[in-house]
Amino acid sequence: MLSRFAAASVVLARFSNAWPPAGHQQPSGPVIHVAPNTKYQGFDGIGISEAFQRSLVLHQLDTPSQNLVLDYLFSSEKGAGMTILRNGLGSSPDQGWDHMQSIAPSPPTPNLNTSQLDFIPLPRDDQYQVWLSQQALARGVKYIYADAWSADYYMKTNNNETNGGYLCGVTNTSCATGDWRQAYANKITRYIQDYQAYGIKIDYVGFLNEPDLSTPYASMQSDGQQAADFLTVLYPTLQQAGISTQIACCDGSGWEENRERLTGIQAAGAEYTLGLVTAHGYSSAPGAPFATPKKVWQTEWSTFDNLNYNWYVRGSQSEGLTWANHIQQTFTVSNVTGFLYWWGAANATDNEPLIFINGTNEVSVTKRLWAHAHFGSRFIRQGASRIGATVTGDSTNALNVSAFANTDGSTAIQVINNGNTTETVTLEGLYCPRPVQTWLTNQANNLTLSVVHAGRRGNIVADVPAKSLLSFYV
Ligand SMILES: *[C@@H]1O[C@H](CO)[C@@H](O)[C@H](O)[C@H]1NC(C)=O
Ligand SMILES: *[C@@H]1O[C@H](CO)[C@@H](O)[C@H](O)[C@H]1NC(C)=O
Ligand SMILES: *[C@@H]1O[C@H](CO)[C@@H](O)[C@H](O)[C@H]1NC(C)=O
Ligand SMILES: *[C@@H]1O[C@H](CO)[C@@H](O)[C@H](O)[C@H]1NC(C)=O
Ligand SMILES: *[C@@H]1O[C@H](CO)[C@@H](O)[C@H](O)[C@H]1NC(C)=O
Ligand SMILES: *[C@@H]1O[C@H](CO)[C@@H](O)[C@H](O)[C@H]1NC(C)=O
Ligand SMILES: *[C@@H]1O[C@H](CO)[C@@H](O)[C@H](O)[C@H]1NC(C)=O
Ligand SMILES: *[C@@H]1O[C@H](CO)[C@@H](O)[C@H](O)[C@H]1NC(C)=O
Ligand SMILES: *[C@@H]1O[C@H](CO)[C@@H](O)[C@H](O)[C@H]1NC(C)=O
Repeated sequence: MLSRFAAASVVLARFSNAWPPAGHQQPSGPVIHVAPNTKYQGFDGIGISEAFQRSLVLHQLDTPSQNLVLDYLFSSEKGAGMTILRNGLGSSPDQGWDHMQSIAPSPPTPNLNTSQLDFIPLPRDDQYQVWLSQQALARGVKYIYADAWSADYYMKTNNNETNGGYLCGVTNTSCATGDWRQAYANKITRYIQDYQAYGIKIDYVGFLNEPDLSTPYASMQSDGQQAADFLTVLYPTLQQAGISTQIACCDGSGWEENRERLTGIQAAGAEYTLGLVTAHGYSSAPGAPFATPKKVWQTEWSTFDNLNYNWYVRGSQSEGLTWANHIQQTFTVSNVTGFLYWWGAANATDNEPLIFINGTNEVSVTKRLWAHAHFGSRFIRQGASRIGATVTGDSTNALNVSAFANTDGSTAIQVINNGNTTETVTLEGLYCPRPVQTWLTNQANNLTLSVVHAGRRGNIVADVPAKSLLSFYV
């Protein structure tokens, strides 16, 4: 697959030197107006997770297959150019399949002294997430986000890692064993230090995952007030340890579930403790921006239907084009600086991963990966800002656009044609001194490169086929 990709060649060069023809001063098709002086949010990138031991599944592959998958995910030349990795911060008492074992798997000795935990070394190098982090960083990943799905069972009201329950010590809890907030903060601190010992900086740390749900796997519930009750312990604990990792919250199962928690944290006066607001797309899709000055990432979203490799067949929830629209709109509508799918690669036969790993070293890429690639580091780099981009003359309402300006002067514009016919679009508002690259993804293409020359007025004209995503790289 890699060699096929590397061979991606210039298949179509559209020369429009003679455009516009005499007597026709206005383009007849849709016009995309790019406004570099209209600056919106910054850009951190796109990403994935290999939590719940999918890092181990990846590690089990032979070296060529490992490199293939890692390049597909993180390389800006060979793959999607993801720059964010979300690791699972373990809370399980053991390392059975699908568990993320804790570094404090047993209650402290002497029993019930909540200020002293018995730590063990990162189990199996954190289920090979240490290895994965190193591989990702070597390929250009910028942010490691470690997120805990729960506190350890002995710190919780239900004395179990699974099936929800609350952290002992927060509002409305009363545990015979006492207040475990400081112990949980100490454990998170120790986990960050364990990674430091490997030379890996954890940029963001989260202590909740989908706190609006109680699930049969690691889960812990919390509302905004209860999150604030822990944030005000975790924040000074990290500071006193001299750790610059910033706190992320709350990975609500949907956008609105998370808004509710953020609002509660703000009402409790604890928003200052946050470095990042994180929300998932499942229970409610990303919508209106959160009212916060903090950066926001959409940190987990996927579907669970049968594995779908297609880009567009009938517009189903798991097709590539559907996800291209999700990614673009989460940046343009919901004001995020980061967008994460759920798993990058896994041996699951549903759509939780972007890449299917057959236990026999067989690696199969879904089209959703290529949708992500248009928003990856091949085109949009650290320090970039989203800028204005609008469409006029789109009579069938088929086009959706976004644009990002890099600090080196280059600009990436993503044009989605959701319609049934080719749209010949004209790009306006950018100075195009040299031929412009276009990169096409649809059912038949995975980032196919073409070169477009500017017309007499400096305009760029290109065809965007039906059901396609075309990126301009200017
Ligand atoms: C718990 O451990 C701390 C730290 O070592 C110690 O100061 C404290 O006395 C212990 N408390 C009990 C009740 O054993
Ligand atoms: C936690 O709950 C699960 C599911 O109900 C159960 O199988 C497990 O034994 C419980 N663990 C503990 C430590 O009670
Ligand atoms: C605590 O419980 C009371 C009484 O049930 C309820 O009114 C309040 O909303 C709860 N607070 C939190 C933070 O859960
Ligand atoms: C968008 O997010 C940025 C932080 O990344 C924030 O400064 C800005 O105010 C937000 N804009 C809106 C419209 O919410
Ligand atoms: C995935 O791999 C793990 C680890 O080898 C194995 O335990 C699990 O059964 C596999 N799952 C599937 C669905 O193949
Ligand atoms: C995994 O690979 C084996 C061997 O090539 C093949 O027989 C099997 O059908 C594959 N499984 C899936 C789910 O693709
Ligand atoms: C594009 O990628 C898909 C997998 O997503 C693959 O099946 C297909 O062969 C690739 N097409 C080309 C032209 O490389
Ligand atoms: C295109 O963007 C508009 C405005 O955000 C949105 O309402 C529409 O649903 C988008 N189209 C698709 C197919 O997602
Ligand atoms: C594309 O075609 C389908 C069915 O052929 C139709 O339902 C849909 O409205 C068309 N979309 C546009 C934007 O014309």
